[in-house]
Amino acid sequence: MELICPICKQPLQRREKAFVCPRNHSFDIARQGYVNLLTVQQKHSLTPGDTREQVLSRRAFLEAGYYAPIVETLLFTAKKYGVSGEILDVGCGEGYYGSRLSHGLGLPLTGLDISKEAVRCAAGKYKDAAWLCATAAHIPVASSSAGLITSLFALTMPEEFRRILRPDGLYFQVLAAEDHLLGLKSIIYPQLHHREKDTVPDIPGFARLESIPIRFDFTVEGQQVQNLFSMTPHVFRIGKEGAQRLRETNVLTDTASAMLNVFKPLG
Ligand SMILES: C[S@@+](CC[C@H](N)C(=O)[O-])C[C@H]1O[C@@H](n2cnc3c(N)ncnc32)[C@H](O)[C@@H]1O
Ligand SMILES: [Zn+2]
Repeated sequence: MELICPICKQPLQRREKAFVCPRNHSFDIARQGYVNLLTVQQKHSLTPGDTREQVLSRRAFLEAGYYAPIVETLLFTAKKYGVSGEILDVGCGEGYYGSRLSHGLGLPLTGLDISKEAVRCAAGKYKDAAWLCATAAHIPVASSSAGLITSLFALTMPEEFRRILRPDGLYFQVLAAEDHLLGLKSIIYPQLHHREKDTVPDIPGFARLESIPIRFDFTVEGQQVQNLFSMTPHVFRIGKEGAQRLRETNVLTDTASAMLNVFKPLG
């Protein structure tokens, strides 16, 4: 996928150890193979996005295959729509989904995440894709360059997604549903508050073609209980008692519940 400079938006050219634009803005290619295209102005903290601990927990959990049904649904749906061209996975995390989609469809992948730890982890394992540390708010890739954008349990940036998608491209959005990981939530919170969640949102500039519910049960044991917890946003919200109950939980049977929304850009 053609990269553009995050400062002046001109095309970037690959040199041996850096990407450089015509105005000589230069971005190093890290030893692991990812490129850091996040400018200081785009950082709202010193280490934005998921932490190393979250990334490693997510890797250990996903690699064990508990969420394989999500990959299967993504692949099945992409084939059904005859997706072609290049894939851009926004908020790609440690690369589990993007790499499997890319291999399953035989299409090139670019993964993007604001967390340096996440792209470092992705680049270390999946060598045949391009990995960018960048913000979804200003995606440093050329217009009309993606046949498929995916954002899985991550954010949606309507204008940027529309700019980057080819006119015949698709956007796959996966959102957690209200009953996602209810088992985990009922261990860590004394009371569950009912929070209305819109899992079939309207996105300006896009038409929703289909919404596919994904729902399945799985059982985790021992360290995988902690890994599951650490990869969720609950890690920032848990109280003392909840943390204690979680430590005492050795086996957890839970339900993953999400929605896959398929969008096309409006002409
Ligand atoms: C819940 S995780 C999902 C990761 C991956 N898609 C998965 O399902 O395994 C959300 C991801 O979005 C990333 N993220 C948060 N804000 C972002 C931003 N502004 N631009 C790009 N990525 C962002 C986080 O670092 C994190 O890796
Ligand atoms: Zn530049």
